[in-house]
Formats: sequence, structure tokens, C-alpha cells
Amino acid sequence: MIVGCVKELKNNEYRVGLTPDNVRSYAAHGHTVLIEPCAGIGSGYSDQEYLDAGAELKDAKEIWASVQMMVKVKEPMPSEYPLFHEGLIIYTYFHLAAAQELLDVLLKAKVSAVAYETLVEKDGSLPLLSPMSQVAGRLSIQEGAKYLEKRFGGEGILLAGVPGTPKANVVILGGGNVGTNACKMAVGMGANVTILDISLKRLEYLDSLFGSGIQTLVSSESNIERVIRAADLVIGCVLIPGKSAPKIFKKKYLKEMKNGAVFVDVAVDQGGCGESTRETTHDDPIFVEEGVVHYCVGNMPGAVPRTSTIALTNATEKYGIEIADAGLEEICRKDAVICSAVNTYQGKVTCQNLADSYVCYDYADIHHLI
Ligand SMILES: NC(=O)c1ccc[n+]([C@@H]2O[C@H](COP(=O)([O-])OP(=O)(O)OC[C@H]3O[C@@H](n4cnc5c(N)ncnc54)[C@H](O)[C@@H]3O)[C@@H](O)[C@H]2O)c1
Repeated sequence: MIVGCVKELKNNEYRVGLTPDNVRSYAAHGHTVLIEPCAGIGSGYSDQEYLDAGAELKDAKEIWASVQMMVKVKEPMPSEYPLFHEGLIIYTYFHLAAAQELLDVLLKAKVSAVAYETLVEKDGSLPLLSPMSQVAGRLSIQEGAKYLEKRFGGEGILLAGVPGTPKANVVILGGGNVGTNACKMAVGMGANVTILDISLKRLEYLDSLFGSGIQTLVSSESNIERVIRAADLVIGCVLIPGKSAPKIFKKKYLKEMKNGAVFVDVAVDQGGCGESTRETTHDDPIFVEEGVVHYCVGNMPGAVPRTSTIALTNATEKYGIEIADAGLEEICRKDAVICSAVNTYQGKVTCQNLADSYVCYDYADIHHLI
């Protein structure tokens, strides 16, 4: 297969879909790899390293036109839509439940969208979401701590406090991958941490991991409202795979919260779990509503591209090579795991949760299309 990778166009996005090591692996399986010059520079990889690994350097337009599979990090930008062609596989994060325009373009162009975020392993885990969730979860506390500083409109408190002063109250909505990693950092920094989830099993796991260091609570409207009143930093990280995030952080809570409290909505890429959420960028990451500082950057791991690129590509390479080796149709016939990542195929929505997110699309079983 001809596989390609272009420079990411999203604001302040320095990650790259393929590293020189990935190029070596694809080449060892007999695939041709095309890379756009400077695609890896933001993650610390020079063009020479790609050439040494066996890649060919081509400009972006040529790559889009020649490849059978494009490996990226974030969703394509509107300037790239005209470069789509029928049968092209795009293997990347899409978050299509919150991106109807892109979904329409993919369907019209009959592109196969293989979405990292919906690939579900046999044990129910999301192996292509989890590395970035680990990064975003850890970063959410780092960013939250920064925006609690007075100069950014925050309360002006230190997460850990110092002897004789109160510690900050950190509330984490959603105890999955992001939530667990946020919890690790918040506990490590000495804050009071409360974590809420709808899954009792998840709360049991968190309780066994952190013991008396945290408070676990079932995620109900009354529990959320109660803990949010006393919160200094709220991290939103709930997920129902393939669906828009449930809006559990209500607008009415803002008035009841402390002035200068911070809300980091990590779930913004799935539409956000806050009613007041609107996506922000690394260039302009925050806005203040009712005195609460909102940080809603949709590509948080892009802030630490070196760590993020390595973590992401460690996970994506295996499935990418399986698709390239067998072709999408063949691999979907025999592998339910990769099948779960196919969101669009031949102009149809092939992910049940995604189809359920819109009234205007019907779900089509990919096995009936291939
Ligand atoms: N902004 C970014 O840069 C960035 C980076 C990585 C991940 N994310 C996003 O963060 C979100 C969380 O990802 P994850 O890997 O932690 O997912 P996950 O599936 O591991 O965890 C989600 C958790 O949310 C819980 N949940 C669902 N509904 C809930 C509710 N009403 N109340 C409380 N908990 C609820 C689930 O039980 C689950 O434990 C996703 O939307 C993901 O796309 C964003």
C-alpha cells in the first residue's frame, strides 16, 4: 500500500502521524511511505531521519493524491477537504459526533474514516484514545494549576496550599483514562480530590488505587452540584464512545461557584461536557464566564508534541500496519477490533454510536457493504 503522512494544520498542532521508526516498520512490510517535508519537525524529527528510514519526501498535495492510506493525528482541516478521493482511508482522530460538516464531506467523497477514538479492543478498552488521554489527563491539572493563578483571572491559590492554608478542591467528572491520570497528578500535587463516575466498577478501581487519598462519588446531578460549589478546579472528562459528551456541567452551576474557579473541559473534542463550553485553541486557550475561567482546548496533547507523538504512534502502528497489509475490506472481514474504528465507508455511517448522534444518518453494517 502507499501510505502517507502530512504536516498537521490544526492550530498549534506539532504532533505527527508517523515517526521515522514507524516508517521503518511500514517499509519492512513492503509499503511505500510518503512524508511531507518538515512534517515531523515540531516533534523533533528531521527530514533526514525520515529519508534514512526509507520514506520519500513529497509535497502535501502530491501525497493526498497518491496515497491509499493517510495517517494523521487530528481531523483534516477544511483546506484539505478538496483533496479527498473515493476509497481513500484516513486513519486519525475524527470525533465526528461533534463535526457534522466534516462527516458530510467524508460521506460525499466516499472516504473511509478510520477513527482512533472509536477503536475498541476485545476487553472494551480504547487503546488509541488512552495514550492521549493519559497526556491530556496529566496536563489538565498542570494547566488548571496555571489558570488558578491571579494574573489569568484565577482565584490565586496553590493546589497544595502550604502549612496553615487550605488545599485546593479538585473535582474530576469522569474516572476513565483522563480522569485517572488527572487524579494521579492532583493527588501528587497535594490537592483534595473528588472524582465522580456513573460506573461503580470504575469507582471501586479508583478507590483501590488511591485509597483514602481521594473521595469517590456516584455521578448524579445532586452530587455534582454539591461538590462543584466548593470546587477550585473542575476537570470535565466524561465519555460515551462515539457520542456527544453528556452536558453534566450545567450553566446554572457557574453562579454558585467560587469566583476565579477553573473549569478544564477535556471532553471538548466530543462537544464538551459543559453547557458553557466552546472550543478554544493553544493560542487563546481560556475565556471567563460568570467569573469561572474555562480552558477548552481540543488538542491538549499538542502542547507536548514530543511525548505525545511517541505515545500515540506506539499505539497506532500495530493497527495501521494490519490495515496496510490486508487492505481495509479484508481486515474488517476478519477483525472486529479494527472494524470498530471504521466510522464511514462507501458514503455510509458505519459506527452505530455515531449514527445515533444524528437524526439525519442511518447506521449501515460495514459487513453488508464490503
Ligand atoms: N481535549 C483533548 O485534547 C483530549 C485529549 C484526550 C482525550 N480527550 C477526551 O477526553 C474524554 C475522556 O476520555 P477518556 O479516555 O478518559 O475516556 P474513558 O472512556 O476512559 O472514560 C470516560 C469515563 O466517563 C464516564 N462517564 C460517562 N458518562 C458519565 C457521566 N454522566 N458522569 C460521570 N462519568 C461519566 C465513564 O463511565 C468513563 O469511566 C473523551 O471525550 C476524549 O475524547 C480530549
